[in-house]
Amino acid sequence: MPRKKIIKGFSKLTPQQKVEAAGGFFSNRESALKTLSSFKHPDPEVQNLLSGISENTISNFHLPYNVAPNFLINGKVYMVPMVIEESSVVAAASSAARFWAGNGGFSSAVINKFKNGQLHFLYSGDTSVLKSAMPEIDNFLREHAKPLTVNMEERGGGIKSIELKDCREIINNYFQLNVLFDTTQAMGANFINTCLEDFSVALGTYFENNGGFDQKKYEPLMAILSNYNDQCLVEARLSCPVENLAPDSKGLPPEEFVRRFIMAVKIADADVYRATTHNKGIMNGVDAVIMATGNDYRAVEAGAHAFASRSGSYRSLSSATVENGNFVFSLKMPMAIGTVGGLTRLHPLAALSLQMLGEPDAGELMMIAACAGLANNYAAVRSLVTTGIQSGHMKMHLSNILMQLKAGPEETAIIKDHFSNRKVSFREVSEYLEKVRRTK
Ligand code: MEV
Repeated sequence: MPRKKIIKGFSKLTPQQKVEAAGGFFSNRESALKTLSSFKHPDPEVQNLLSGISENTISNFHLPYNVAPNFLINGKVYMVPMVIEESSVVAAASSAARFWAGNGGFSSAVINKFKNGQLHFLYSGDTSVLKSAMPEIDNFLREHAKPLTVNMEERGGGIKSIELKDCREIINNYFQLNVLFDTTQAMGANFINTCLEDFSVALGTYFENNGGFDQKKYEPLMAILSNYNDQCLVEARLSCPVENLAPDSKGLPPEEFVRRFIMAVKIADADVYRATTHNKGIMNGVDAVIMATGNDYRAVEAGAHAFASRSGSYRSLSSATVENGNFVFSLKMPMAIGTVGGLTRLHPLAALSLQMLGEPDAGELMMIAACAGLANNYAAVRSLVTTGIQSGHMKMHLSNILMQLKAGPEETAIIKDHFSNRKVSFREVSEYLEKVRRTK
C-alpha cells in the first residue's frame, strides 16, 4: 500500500497528481480512484468550472436536485428548487405548500435588507477627540473607499452608516467601527470585506494627518463582515380559519390540532433542547433553497441561530397563535443572500434555479427561502403533534433500504405493502426480501 506521508506543495500538483496522492489514503485505491473518476463531469469545460470554484478538487460530491411545487407566495406560484440529502424534507415542503395553496398561500415581506461589517481596532490616544471627530472620519472613510463603492452606488447601494462603538469594557483600548451596507442584489461578502479592509488603512491615514490624533496609538485588528444580520430580516406568514385545517389535521378535530400545535411552538420557545430541533426543521427548508441557488448556507445558519438567541435565551424562530378564529403561523429570521455574485450565476444549476423561480431579486429570494423554512416547520410540527414523524420518515427509509438491496419493481411493491403497517428496519426488510425471492 502507498505510504501516507506529509505532502509538500500539494496545491501546486496537477489535478491528476492530486488524485494519485489522495489515492494512498483509501483502503482500496483502485476502486476509490474509479469511483472518484466516475463522479467527474464528462464535459471538461464544466469540470474545470466546478474545480475552479474550490481548491484541491479530486471529484464532485453529488447531492439530489429536487423541486417542491405549488408554493403560493404573495399571490404568485413558484416551483421551488431544493438541494438536500435528507429524505422527506422535499415531500414535507411539497405537502405543506399544496395544502396552504388552497388556503391563501404564504404571505411574506422583507423587513430590511442591510448587512453589517466591523472594523475591530485598538486606540490608546485621546478617545474624546476620536469620538467627537466621528462625523469627519465618517466622511473621510467614505471618500477613501469611493473607488470601491462607486459601482455599488450606481446600483442603488453602498455604505449606509458608520458608527463608533466603545468596547473598552471587553479589552483595553478596544473600539469598533460598525458599518451598515446596502449590497442591493448581492450577498455582498466581498464588497463588505474589501470596504472594511480599506477603512482599516484609511483610519490610520486619517490619524496620521489630523491634529489631536496619534497614528502610533492605532492598532487595526480585524476587518470582517458580521454574519449576524439582524438588519437583513424577512418574515413569512400562514393564516387561515381554524376549521379550514380539518383536512390537514390527520384525523384530529382542527381546534384540537391547533391547541396541540400552539403548545409545541410554545415549548420550542421556552426549551433550548426542543428549540434547536424545531429551528433545525426550519433550516431544512431554508438551507435547501440557499444551496439550490448557490448561496452561503453556513452564513444563513450562523445568523439564524444568533437571531434565535437575541433575547438572551435560544428560542423558536417561528410563532403560532389564534387571532379572531384564524390560525396564524409565522417566521422571522435574518437572510443575507443574493441573486448576483458568488456562485449564484457561476454554478449552472444555481443559475437554473433562479431561472425556475422567475429571476427573483434578492428580496424575493429571501421571501421564497423563508416560506420554504416555514413550510417545513409547519409540516414537521403537524406530524409531531399528530401521527409522529417516523411513519413518514420510515416510508422514505424503506425506499432507501429497497434501493440498497436492489429490489426490483415487483419486489418493491410487495414489500411496501407488507411494511405499510409494520415497523421498518434494515434487518426485517432484508429478511422479508429474501423470503419473497425464495418463494418466487
Ligand atoms: C428533521 O430533519 C426535522 C425535525 O426534527 C424538525 C422538528 O422536530 O421540528 C422533524
